[in-house]
Amino acid sequence: MPNFYGICKVLTFCIFDFMKFAMKRKIIITDDGSSSIYLPELDEIYHSKHGAIQEAYHVFIQHGLDLFDDASEINILEIGFGTGLNCLITFLEAKKRNLIINYDGVEAYPLKAEEISQLNYKQQLNIQNESKVFEKIHIVSWNEKQIIASDFLLIKRKQFIESIDDKNKFDLIYFDAFGAEVQPELWTELIFKKMYDSLKNKGILVTYSAKGSVRRAMQSAGLLVERLPGPPGKREMLRGVKHSIGDQMIIKE
Ligand SMILES: C[S@@+](CC[C@H](N)C(=O)[O-])C[C@H]1O[C@@H](n2cnc3c(N)ncnc32)[C@H](O)[C@@H]1O
Repeated sequence: MPNFYGICKVLTFCIFDFMKFAMKRKIIITDDGSSSIYLPELDEIYHSKHGAIQEAYHVFIQHGLDLFDDASEINILEIGFGTGLNCLITFLEAKKRNLIINYDGVEAYPLKAEEISQLNYKQQLNIQNESKVFEKIHIVSWNEKQIIASDFLLIKRKQFIESIDDKNKFDLIYFDAFGAEVQPELWTELIFKKMYDSLKNKGILVTYSAKGSVRRAMQSAGLLVERLPGPPGKREMLRGVKHSIGDQMIIKE
């Protein structure tokens, strides 16, 4: 039975955590013209200030999804669903490639409808044919598998990243949490071990981070890690692959 002090501590943590990420959010425009969200109290942006769309394509599509050119169906896990930008561009890319995607987006602090309506991704991506998709991604309910299109199934999982316990399920993880300075607890060996466990063998994890401590945490969790050129404004980023003992580095480039 938790005591009074324990309950107060947990409650204080939850309230503080909620205040940190859900209270003051400001829509901003990044250098490529696409919108993002700024958290004034933490001085943290959801994307690169040099360009939200530019960063998303570079990190998650070019260095992630592009490795699955030969696949017909893949499972993707997004860590930090946020604006849904990564989900939207993955949907658009899957269409071009004839790829079936099962997309799980984990998010503890969903955006409000009035925030989503101010994001300019549809205009910036110039998507007339798929203009309703972005709304659909956000309107569908949480915690249930939803058919966005016959080749794109989405489940938005309202949960804490810390509680993920999937096993051997995903081909690709978009690791897009807030930076390690803001949320050091999410860039640890413990969390990357969860990511490792949730990946299939030879599954890939991509992240915009290039920090040495992050690379070491990924390696300690068992991932084979390489540094890659980062998006504009950032020298490097990281990519890891789940490998069996004895495997060679199997990623191209
Ligand atoms: C850097 S933003 C990335 C957002 C998203 N990928 C996008 O393109 O908009 C990080 C996201 O992680 C969410 N988040 C922060 N801490 C979390 C936690 N402990 N569990 C689940 N989501 C969390 C935030 O609410 C935010 O949406």
